[in-house]
Amino acid sequence: MNKSPIGIFDSGIGGLTVVKAIQSALPCEQIVYFGDTARVPYGPKSQITIRKYAADDTAILMRYQPKMIIVACNTVSALALDVVEKSCGNIPVIGVLKAGATFAVQVTKNNRIGVIGTQATVSSNAYACAINALDPDIEVISQACPLFVPLAEEGFINHAATKLVAEHYLREIREQGIDTLVLGCTHYPILRQVIEETIGSGIRIIDSAEAVALKTRELLHDSGQLSRSQKASVPHLLVSDLPQKFSMLYQLFMGSEQPDVDLVEV
Ligand code: DGL
Repeated sequence: MNKSPIGIFDSGIGGLTVVKAIQSALPCEQIVYFGDTARVPYGPKSQITIRKYAADDTAILMRYQPKMIIVACNTVSALALDVVEKSCGNIPVIGVLKAGATFAVQVTKNNRIGVIGTQATVSSNAYACAINALDPDIEVISQACPLFVPLAEEGFINHAATKLVAEHYLREIREQGIDTLVLGCTHYPILRQVIEETIGSGIRIIDSAEAVALKTRELLHDSGQLSRSQKASVPHLLVSDLPQKFSMLYQLFMGSEQPDVDLVEV
């Protein structure tokens, strides 16, 4: 069992921010990653569609008999975590949203937390619910930033267009007296530098990837399922479209060699 991979999925390259954190916390674990590049972005889509995609994504990962699944997509974590849990039987599922919310509650000092995410995540109010379930006195100010996802997918990491879009989206939230900003979409850490510069100093940025990695290590340790392998292995990468483009973005973002990427049908 401990040799089985950890299954991780997202709509596209966003979940690689979680892969990076898992590799750093658990270098000897095998990873199978699915990016649904044929259907990205998920954020502007309806709940019915997102729930269908979540079931498909889980079914693809289940072919590889993972020991657990990490939903490296806030949109699916907000709207369809139960679909993933139902589709994967008894194996544990960790979603990025709860981990990010918990981390933000631990960090805020003035009880004013900003959350940026996709339209679907922000409309679902899932972050405010998760944060207020932990501390009802915290004020949550949310802002949807839908264009950040295609900018990240295009590799516009430090581009003038990204700076312009960030200025447009973050202008209001930066005036709200928040001391903590949750990157409530796994694509956003790819644009972290621009987001950080635009929001200004003195605001702590929360990337849930690290919190998810710590939770994963704890879960595997407590259930005796940590890998006993001594060497790090390259993740098995799957996408539903344009594997070559994904491979180039992987290289750009992960700073590695260009990996092999397999095409799967959804
Ligand atoms: N990276 C995903 C998230 O965390 C999905 C973004 C999208 O496809 O719109 O929400």
